[in-house]
Amino acid sequence: MKVAVLGAAGGIGQALSLLLKTQLPAGSELSLYDVAPVVPGVAVDLSHIPTAVTVEGFGVDALDKALTGADIVIIPAGMPRKPGMDRADLFAVNAGIIKTLAEGIAANCPKALVGVITNPVNGTVPIVAEVFKKAGTYDKNRVFGVTTLDVIRSEAFVAELKGLDVSQVKVPVIGGHSGTTILPLLSQVEGVTFSEEEVAALTPRIQNAGTEVVNAKAGGGSATLSMGAAAARFCLSLVKGLQGEDVVDYAYVDVDGGDADFFAHPVRLGVNGVAEILPYGKLSAFEEKAKNDMLATLNADIKEGVDFINA
Ligand code: NAD
Ligand code: LMR
Repeated sequence: MKVAVLGAAGGIGQALSLLLKTQLPAGSELSLYDVAPVVPGVAVDLSHIPTAVTVEGFGVDALDKALTGADIVIIPAGMPRKPGMDRADLFAVNAGIIKTLAEGIAANCPKALVGVITNPVNGTVPIVAEVFKKAGTYDKNRVFGVTTLDVIRSEAFVAELKGLDVSQVKVPVIGGHSGTTILPLLSQVEGVTFSEEEVAALTPRIQNAGTEVVNAKAGGGSATLSMGAAAARFCLSLVKGLQGEDVVDYAYVDVDGGDADFFAHPVRLGVNGVAEILPYGKLSAFEEKAKNDMLATLNADIKEGVDFINA
């Protein structure tokens, strides 16, 4: 199993790479790529941890080497938010970064499963899809927007609110990854009921959790440690799927005729990526309205990504 992390020297990249070095199956290869000159040092640093996972660092001129043979590519490359910015404000800088990296993937490991973390996820995932379509390598089952941070935050906040064992809490989160497009399905949390007031308070808390971190870091970036944990969890789900285990996780995927062209759903993972897009089930009246209200925003975000490649 070869996993490439693009943007591996950044806040998320380093946290994710550390977790993958300690949690990937024995015999795996970890390939770290970044334009920052520190990346070979990050690889040397990690290589001193005694696990049976090899690590190699690749700098700006070696994207092809970093990607060749990769089974999974996780992308946290790009600029994070500062207070006062929306994720959409990152598009101008990050769209070009994602385009270049997607072209590298199409050329060097077209069959890899690709997990996109770079914001704005609602638009960067369609960019990857359009680049792959132009290259003739697009397989909608192999491209994922990583929305796991919304899921783990929801688990943490629900457990905290209700005094539950967090390891037992499961919260479906559908839609996209920004503001109101993040839609936690609190009506579907097993064994837990929420008052209308709790739903009205907890839903925006989950939707604005990224901003909560951005403001708390006061100009020092956005979520990196929780995102590293989320990305590792999602990457390990992809690994299990590739190994033939039956695993279901949430991700922002090409749903082909769903609520929007891309939408976070529960997905069954397998040896070729998405084996099945599962229905998200019955929504409460509050959730149905929230979904309908946010679709215009999500569709506009998706169109921006598609147009970036095709305009
Ligand atoms: P960071 O600034 O700490 O790290 C970004 C890294 O990307 C840097 O090391 C930089 O050198 C590298 N980079 C820039 N251009 C590159 C290129 N062309 N090729 C390879 N590497 C390149 O930022 P961060 O905090 O790690 O956040 C990274 C991205 O992840 C941001 O866009 C942020 O908004 C996003 N993010 C997404 C989620 C999510 O839930 N999907 C959560 C948190 C952050
Ligand atoms: C998050 O949800 O923490 C990330 O998308 C980063 C951000 O800008 O909020």
